[in-house]
Amino acid sequence: MPKVATLGQFIIEKQADFPYAKGELSRLLRDIGIAAKIVNREVNKAGLVDILGAAGQTNIQGERQQKLDVYANEQFISALQSGGECCIVASEENEDIILIDSEVSKSAKYIVAIDPLDGSSNIDVNVPVGTIFSIYRRKSADGPALISDVLQKGTQQVAAGYIIYGSSTMLVYTTGCGVNGFTLDPSIGEFCLSHPEMKMPKTGTIYSINEGNYIHFPDGVKQYIKYCQVEDKATNRPYSSRYIGSMVADLHRNLIKGGIFIYPGTASAPKGKLRLVYECNPLAFIIEQAGGKATDGESRILDLEVIELHQRTPIFIGSKEMVLIAEAFLHETSVTL
Ligand code: AHG
Ligand code: MN
Ligand code: MN
Repeated sequence: MPKVATLGQFIIEKQADFPYAKGELSRLLRDIGIAAKIVNREVNKAGLVDILGAAGQTNIQGERQQKLDVYANEQFISALQSGGECCIVASEENEDIILIDSEVSKSAKYIVAIDPLDGSSNIDVNVPVGTIFSIYRRKSADGPALISDVLQKGTQQVAAGYIIYGSSTMLVYTTGCGVNGFTLDPSIGEFCLSHPEMKMPKTGTIYSINEGNYIHFPDGVKQYIKYCQVEDKATNRPYSSRYIGSMVADLHRNLIKGGIFIYPGTASAPKGKLRLVYECNPLAFIIEQAGGKATDGESRILDLEVIELHQRTPIFIGSKEMVLIAEAFLHETSVTL
C-alpha cells in the first residue's frame, strides 16, 4: 500500500528545512488546518439551512445559526488565539487588527492575515468557496505587537495558503519552497498529500474575468479580452472564459490547468476590488512559487507597499506567459501579438 502523508506529518518533516524553526510555524499551520476542518463541516451543511434554520434563527438544538462568513471568521480567530503562536490576526471581516495579548501569545512570533470565507456570495448556491491565509514574522521586538507588524510587503510572507471547499476540500500552501496540495479524506478527517510540488503551466487556454464589467475596463484590458477571443491555431485561441466568482476556486483551477485571472481597476474604482493583504499577496506568493506571475499591471504584487490594512489592488495573476502578454496590452494600446 502506498504511504499516505498527512498534512501534520508533512509539516513536521518540512520543519527541518527551516534552520530557525522551533516548531512554532508548524503548530500555526496545524491550527489553521484544524479550523479549516471545522469550517468545512459547516460549509458542507450549508444546503441544509431549511432544516437547520437560517442565519439569525435558533436551530433545533437551541443553537443560534450564524452566517457562514461570520462563523468561519470566529473559528479561525479562536483557533489562532488558543494556539498561542500568533500575536495578531488581521481579518478581512474585522475593521481593525485583533491583538492576542494572552501571556503566551503576546510574545508570539507570527502574524496571520486571513480572508476567512472567500466567494461568500456563492455559499447559498453550492458553488466552491475558500479561505485564504498569509503568515508574517513579527518585526517589533517586544511589548504589544503593532499595526506595522501587519503592514509588511508580500515578499516578507513566511507562508501562505488557501483552502478550497469544493467537490473535495483541499488545503494548498507554500512556505517559500514550492507549493503542496492536500485533499481532505472525510473518512479519516485528515488532509492527505495529493498534489506534491504543484507547478503551474507556463501558458494556458483559460481567462477568468468578470466580463459583465467590460464597459468599465481600461482599454488595454478590453484589447486583451479581444485577443483571448481571436482565432489563432498556433496559440490555441480562442481561449475559454471561466469565472466562478470565488477567487480561490478560479485560481485553483487555473493553477492546475493553466490560465489567467484578472480583476482590473476601473475609472470609478482605480484599485479594483480585491484586497492586497488578505487575497492578493497570499495568492501571488503561491502562484509565484508554482512558477506563475502576479502583477497589478505595473509592478509585482509582492513588491507593493502596504499602506493600510484593507488596501485594494488591481491584479493580473496566473500562467507567466499569459500575464506577460496581458501586461503588454496594458502598456501599448495597439499590440499585435
Ligand atoms: P469575498 O467573498 O471574500 O468578499 O471575495 C469575493 C471576491 C473574490 O473571491 C471574487 O473573485 C470576486 O470578489 C468577485 O467579484 P465580482 O462579483 O465583482 O466579480
Ligand atoms: Mn475574498
Ligand atoms: Mn471574504
